[in-house]
Amino acid sequence: MASLTVAGTVQVPGDKSISHRALILAALADGESVIRDVLVADDTASTAYALRALGIDAPPLGPEVLIQGTGVRGLRAPGANLDCGNSGTSVRLLAGVIAGHPFSATFVGDESLRRRPMRRIAEPLSAMGARFSFAAGDGLPMTVQGGDLRHIAWTSEVSSAQVKSAILLAGLVAGVPVSVREPRPSRDHTERMLRSLGVTVTSSRDAVTKLTPAARLEPFDLTVPGDPSSAAFFLALAALSSSGSITLPGVCVDTLRAGFVRAIRHMGAIVKVSDTRQATGEEQGTITVAPGALRAIHVRESEIPAMIDELPLLACVATRAEGETVVRGAAELRVKESDRIASVVDNLRALGADAEAFEDGFAVRGSDKPLRGTVRTGGDHRIAMSFGVLGCVPGNEIRIDDRDCVAVSYPGFWQDLRKVTS
Ligand code: S3P
Repeated sequence: MASLTVAGTVQVPGDKSISHRALILAALADGESVIRDVLVADDTASTAYALRALGIDAPPLGPEVLIQGTGVRGLRAPGANLDCGNSGTSVRLLAGVIAGHPFSATFVGDESLRRRPMRRIAEPLSAMGARFSFAAGDGLPMTVQGGDLRHIAWTSEVSSAQVKSAILLAGLVAGVPVSVREPRPSRDHTERMLRSLGVTVTSSRDAVTKLTPAARLEPFDLTVPGDPSSAAFFLALAALSSSGSITLPGVCVDTLRAGFVRAIRHMGAIVKVSDTRQATGEEQGTITVAPGALRAIHVRESEIPAMIDELPLLACVATRAEGETVVRGAAELRVKESDRIASVVDNLRALGADAEAFEDGFAVRGSDKPLRGTVRTGGDHRIAMSFGVLGCVPGNEIRIDDRDCVAVSYPGFWQDLRKVTS
């Protein structure tokens, strides 16, 4: 039987969440900041484009980006709609920033972004004093009218770093204290970055985050670590291979992002994390991964926020793990770039895998049956890459209908995949 040997080192691109935040905070700082290894991809280009429309002098994204910040409340009214393409993070974080400025802005986006729910940010930001209007429902186009805001203590129904960050940024810009309670802690890059810039932000063990506003932000020099959500594709690939190993240097290994590392290890892959160090408030390290006999797992609900973007990939790996892998408590997957529960389960079934959808998750029963057919990505980058990995397994013949959609988060994905499999 054919086998798959993997070998090599992949330097995955800069973390998407940290890149968005670095660009936004640099715009709000007093003076010139330097961002190194920012993610150069469609989503971060959307944030940079919107910041330019808001009066920021920002060059095209590259290995080293200099941003001239105009101060905590120094953006100016945009002359055009803010087109955020496919990027939910750009809209939600920038809506928080604009809520504290004395002007209005209208967000538009692609077909996927227009369907994504914005009530989750519109409610708390409206309670602070901003005004929102929607062309229809609670999706884009969305207009935010900012102004003087009041302090807030908000309880969010969902664990969402985007909601939390929108509120923290609104508090920062408007100069009012804010607190956010989440069901479980979500990724905390905004808090870490703000803390490293001298802003008082506290996080309690029961997932309450509080910000005390600062009058100004110091400009900074930040190197963005590799994106664990991009690294996950190579963890999965090595786990599914028959021999060899893949090394991934400089990846963010923060606990709140490392759910997939823990899961794949639990499934039987051999994963080592070495050279760990703190850099600009974020823990990073080198991940080395090699295959092992894969068995199914039940993902605990408490682990979901730390691997929310990797769950479609986990479903793909589960097709080759012995037993039934079950994910519940992940209804948030339904409102990502696509309905990722329907998308992953429908595609797996179309290829011949044994998968079942639940309202809040999925079950996948593993086997060594070859999977064959065409995957419909619905334009979702993570669906394309997850099935791209599954397509490398000997015996599987998987065509992806839209390979180019990876440009949203990882433009060089197919080249990197080829590099470690050939
Ligand atoms: C992100 C938070 C997560 C994640 C998204 C990026 C961020 O979304 O799925 O890809 O950068 O804050 P939610 O905040 O909606 O959980």
